[in-house]
Amino acid sequence: MIVFINGEFLPLEQARVSPLDRGFLFGDGVYEVIPAYAGQLFRIEQHLQRLQNSLDAVRMANPYSSRQWLNILWELMSQQDYDNHLIYLQVTRGADDHRSHAIPVNIEPTVFVMSSRLKTEPATTHHPGAHTITREDSRWRHCDVKAVTLLANVLLRQQAIDQQCEETFLVCDGQVTEGAASNIFIVRDRALFTPPKGPMLLPGVTRDLILEIAEDIDFPCQERTVSTHDLLAADEVWFTSSSREIVPVISVDGQQIGSGTPGAVWHKFISAFDHYKENIKERKQATGQRTAASAQ
Ligand SMILES: Cc1ncc(COP(=O)(O)O)c(C=O)c1O
Repeated sequence: MIVFINGEFLPLEQARVSPLDRGFLFGDGVYEVIPAYAGQLFRIEQHLQRLQNSLDAVRMANPYSSRQWLNILWELMSQQDYDNHLIYLQVTRGADDHRSHAIPVNIEPTVFVMSSRLKTEPATTHHPGAHTITREDSRWRHCDVKAVTLLANVLLRQQAIDQQCEETFLVCDGQVTEGAASNIFIVRDRALFTPPKGPMLLPGVTRDLILEIAEDIDFPCQERTVSTHDLLAADEVWFTSSSREIVPVISVDGQQIGSGTPGAVWHKFISAFDHYKENIKERKQATGQRTAASAQ
């Protein structure tokens, strides 16, 4: 596998990072996960904007311009033998010559980018539905920053896995904020709800696309708080992310949601989502080109 590290494209086995890297010592860095369908980067402007927001929040300079990022991602994709990618990019503050909490001046950030193969069967076809749990949110209060410091998320997600479930929904002061690695939507009385953006959740790129789809197809949708009671009483529950797209939930904490199968509103939105992805691929076939503005 060819990866990008600090300006070079190298086989993974040759990529090296210092043990004094602050990403390794402190989890001092930020990241993005970006899908690409048929080589077309999905919602890339939104991902690069969120990267910039994360870097600003942790007082790091962006090592590259948008154009430079695009060139890196395109080159990396061209070095893989598949066309549908899940790109992981990470920027850490870099390695100093000693360990100290104080933010060092004049060190170079460490930039690492890799691609893995993205499975892309249209999700519209039979999704069995996911089982989930809820847990008290034990994370810090800057969850809108996509920081590599993910230990709380790892432990929270693992509690779902331990119970043969797929996701843990996080509860803060009685309100459900998001999943351990996803955003949450509920459907009640033919209207869609998702918690508003704020410091306790990541502003998901997939989440924002769903809000756009709702507007496009004129489906009632509101950003408002979702209590644990709302969650259990919902007709449908979904979680969303770049890697999982839109996942219908059929149980929370062992309690059935709606009819216990993926609901009609989920079918409607996943079809619209698949259609949106198809448009991106078709645009590539029509122009024969990759476009930075894929899927605006
Ligand atoms: C905590 C958290 N919330 C939400 C999301 C969904 O964000 P996106 O749709 O941009 O992938 C993720 C994605 O990994 C996440 O880790």
